[in-house]
Amino acid sequence: MDCYEITAPGTLVRKSRPDPRPGPGEVVLRMAAASLNYRDIMIKNGKYGNMRLPVIPLSDGAGQVVATGEGVTRILVGDRVAGIFNQAWTGGPPPIHARALGGDMDGMLAQTVVLPETGVVRLPDSLSFEEGATLPCAAVTAWNALFVSSRLTPGETVLIIGTGGVSLFALQFAKMAGARVILLSRSLEKIERVRSLGADHAIDTTLHPQWEEEVLELTGGRGVDHVVEVGGAQTLPRSLSITRHQGHVAVIGVLSGGEVRFPVFALLARQIRLSGIYVGSRDHFEAMNVAIGENALHPHISRIFPFGEVPQAFRTMEAGDFVGKLVISFDR
Ligand SMILES: NC(=O)c1ccc[n+]([C@@H]2O[C@H](COP(=O)([O-])OP(=O)(O)OC[C@H]3O[C@@H](n4cnc5c(N)ncnc54)[C@H](OP(=O)(O)O)[C@@H]3O)[C@@H](O)[C@H]2O)c1
Repeated sequence: MDCYEITAPGTLVRKSRPDPRPGPGEVVLRMAAASLNYRDIMIKNGKYGNMRLPVIPLSDGAGQVVATGEGVTRILVGDRVAGIFNQAWTGGPPPIHARALGGDMDGMLAQTVVLPETGVVRLPDSLSFEEGATLPCAAVTAWNALFVSSRLTPGETVLIIGTGGVSLFALQFAKMAGARVILLSRSLEKIERVRSLGADHAIDTTLHPQWEEEVLELTGGRGVDHVVEVGGAQTLPRSLSITRHQGHVAVIGVLSGGEVRFPVFALLARQIRLSGIYVGSRDHFEAMNVAIGENALHPHISRIFPFGEVPQAFRTMEAGDFVGKLVISFDR
């Protein structure tokens, strides 16, 4: 089987390896699709802490189970499944040591993948493999941010930053739950591309660099109930400034840097809750899949690359020239 490996920072190489065989409790997936996250760019560029190399990248992928090892009972040959991001987190509180695909261990950018049966979930029947491959990191993170770490209720207002993977899932989930969404993007053209997803207000932050004023005006001076905070250094202090008393900020990303200064007094005076989010568990993933199926929700895929064009997919992700998800198809 063929796979891609990060062999050194900045170096992604296509390789052939012997087909892996399942051990006890493991399942073999013939991979159909995978998807990229911003994290994969950081890992490829050696900017994600001390990673062991070589590593097969990508946490997100979906395929069909073609064989099972001894003692497998949860999963059947023929099931359509995706891997869970953190192979060590099936439910309850997160384990101390994560085992994230495509980082702590080999990931999904291989034609054949072997995982423990505990580390996969069945895809909703309503989704294609390409759609299902977008779920494990970005969608589960957005789900955790809105419905687990906080309990979004209909009529509340959510501020969503950007038009990438996490942000568009958050937009779709928030609308599904009857919330009002204010979306920020640095590009009017991207705002137009995602108009059909139903954001109630969209602010072009290039045109309106003082976007906090717009957000306050849209909320009658009160501030938003929730922020899906993917920006980090340059946006987190500003997000805090437009969160209502006892509002909630889901701290997810570091797109503009990971070192942040903000006024602690403002945080405590307004009793704002900050939650650090690290994707989610298998239980979260399965609950989300039920909601996706029931609500006929389809992930927003910007572009699908054939397996042979993986380097181009990485370059497109790095350039930021997309909305939603970039997917790799193993069958094209
Ligand atoms: N903690 C977790 O569990 C978790 C899980 C998934 C992702 N993340 C993190 O969340 C962030 C987003 O991940 P992703 O995979 O959704 O990324 P992505 O698909 O690359 O999307 C990022 C989007 O954010 C906007 N953006 C980019 N740079 C920005 C900046 N400097 N300031 C404000 N907005 C910016 C862009 O939208 P516009 O061009 O429309 O402005 C871009 O499309 C990353 O930092 C990632 O590492 C964390």
